[in-house]
Amino acid sequence: MRILHVGASGTIGGAVRTALSDRGHDVVAAHRGSVGWPVDISDPERIHDLLDEVGELDAVVCTAGSTPFGPWQQLDRAAWTSGIESKLLGQIELVRQAVDQTRTGGSFTLISGIIGRERIRSGSVAAAVNGALESWVAAAAAEMGGEHRLNAVSPTVLTESLDRYGDFFPGFPSVAAADVAQAFVRSVEGIDTGRIYRV
Ligand SMILES: NC(=O)c1ccc[n+]([C@@H]2O[C@H](COP(=O)([O-])OP(=O)(O)OC[C@H]3O[C@@H](n4cnc5c(N)ncnc54)[C@H](OP(=O)(O)O)[C@@H]3O)[C@@H](O)[C@H]2O)c1
Repeated sequence: MRILHVGASGTIGGAVRTALSDRGHDVVAAHRGSVGWPVDISDPERIHDLLDEVGELDAVVCTAGSTPFGPWQQLDRAAWTSGIESKLLGQIELVRQAVDQTRTGGSFTLISGIIGRERIRSGSVAAAVNGALESWVAAAAAEMGGEHRLNAVSPTVLTESLDRYGDFFPGFPSVAAADVAQAFVRSVEGIDTGRIYRV
């Protein structure tokens, strides 16, 4: 399959890109700093420019987007706006714009995260963004009515990210990026829609 992958250079993205390539897929690897396929999903015009270049697709996967962390009182409107525009509206806009050039039966797989369902300190923006994204995936997948499939992968903290985020997740078992990547493979190659894969 020809797959557009946004966020392909990241911790999760690197593993997903490897897993999809190992399965024989033709992966268009995009991210903000990419030389060949640059895109910033928080900017709808940049998404449009990328899709124009990329052409017809069988699937889109996204492992991009970020949310600010901090005590809830300190997460101001600018912090909320950045998290919403990047991880929530960025991924939704990617699907909205890509759907017309994705073949019937093709799929979209987005990235969520455990903070949407488990509480941690400093994670209030991420909790709201992940929760909203998962609700949108369920609603939009139902509306797609079988023409396209739409799922999200919701990982716990990654083993590879423990040095960066481990202190936010005391007592949480971690997951290897390679295992998270298999959920993306399952979503792309399987038949599920409206699913949130908790890994
Ligand atoms: N790491 C974890 O433990 C963990 C656990 C659960 C969920 N998640 C979620 O998984 C996602 C990826 O996490 P990660 O740890 O793999 O992050 P990461 O290592 O920082 O990688 C992020 C990737 O997305 C790209 N990117 C970031 N913002 C972008 C934007 N606005 N437009 C296009 N590309 C963008 C980055 O490349 P450029 O900088 O070049 O754009 C990079 O390829 C995040 O949404 C995070 O919340 C992570």
